Amino acid sequence: MLSGKNVLLAITGSIAAYKSAYLVRGFIKSGANVKVIVTESALQFVTKVTLSTLSKNPVYKDFLKDEHTGEWNNHVELGSWSDIMVIAPATANTLSNLVTGKANSFFLATFLSCNSPVFVAPAMDLDMFQNKSTKHNLDILSKRGVKIIDPGSGELASGLDGKGRMEEPEQIVDVINQYFLDQATLKNINILISAGPTYESIDPVRFIGNYSSGKMGFALAKEAENRGACVELISGPVSLKTPKNVKRTNIRSALEMKKEIEDRFSTTDVLIMSAAVADFQPTESAINKIKKAEAKMSITLKKTPDILKDLAKKKKKQIVIGFALETESEKKNAYQKMKQKNLDAIVLNSLKDKGAGFGYNTNKVTIITPLEEMNYELKTKDLVAKDILNFIEKCILD
Ligand code: C5P
Repeated sequence: MLSGKNVLLAITGSIAAYKSAYLVRGFIKSGANVKVIVTESALQFVTKVTLSTLSKNPVYKDFLKDEHTGEWNNHVELGSWSDIMVIAPATANTLSNLVTGKANSFFLATFLSCNSPVFVAPAMDLDMFQNKSTKHNLDILSKRGVKIIDPGSGELASGLDGKGRMEEPEQIVDVINQYFLDQATLKNINILISAGPTYESIDPVRFIGNYSSGKMGFALAKEAENRGACVELISGPVSLKTPKNVKRTNIRSALEMKKEIEDRFSTTDVLIMSAAVADFQPTESAINKIKKAEAKMSITLKKTPDILKDLAKKKKKQIVIGFALETESEKKNAYQKMKQKNLDAIVLNSLKDKGAGFGYNTNKVTIITPLEEMNYELKTKDLVAKDILNFIEKCILD
């Protein structure tokens, strides 16, 4: 389950930091990509060279990357790169800083800007671990959703015997692996997603297109993959990176999209048509560039095939979901489309809602089925993708 996952490992200043080198190896052996952050005090126990060699990546410590040019390490980018953040070892001081929300180091700022799940593996002497403040800090972190990997018992660096030893690296890798296994709620499910606009050619240099950025479809593909689904993404022209482990096919026109979707439909369990497929295409695409000879010109258009409608007619086991982007009579139009196109659900977004629709990183949707209607708040497209996938999971279980 760790294969291809991005693990961000933060190492803080405990003697157990030397074991983190084994932890890096364990993650790498499991096929994960690993980036390491160290605190100043962690470097008293383990070196950057060891960690960068094992992780095959530069090690991060400070905001400033190059003092001559002012180039800096971007904590926000690093946080969003990660599929998971693991803080091991986490000292008592670190736990306290995580609770208070301090951001006076690259590590703490990255923690604050990281939206991925966070695991902490505490390491300290037994009395420090038993101390009420440590217990209280762990309790607060746990209530906030941080996952605690309990320390083991045994001989401690102080010579005392008790609970406080950082969990062994192999066990930590197992815990993280199990976490991803538990997340794989869509294992063995084939999900086909269309995203982005289509371009309908007028001549070799011009086209009819739309403003779709593809962000919603790509967020859906990423989230479905996170849940263990086998994801194929048919994408119109967009400038977005393919989510990892997702098989992407690029198309330009509605007809090309139709072919790619049709070819895969029979082996698909869920089809999500989030693409903004052009409704019309020029009846003919000129072979040569059209000259601007006349003061006026007109282009004759014909309807593109409705990919979703045609396929939903043939659906057997498939769950088929469409999108409706409306500017007026939103719900009425969405219900009509769902019915006309024989869909299991339609995701409605309205251009009237600020921050929703094309290009934004946020969206505000209503999921409509023949039986129910679910309204959601404006949120990031990554979070909207979670809502839609939760709904799909429910449909699969029913
Ligand atoms: O009818 P309308 O274009 O608003 O419907 C939107 C839904 O239909 C979207 O899910 C879109 O991907 C799909 N669609 C399609 N083929 C078309 C036009 C739209 O599959 N030619």
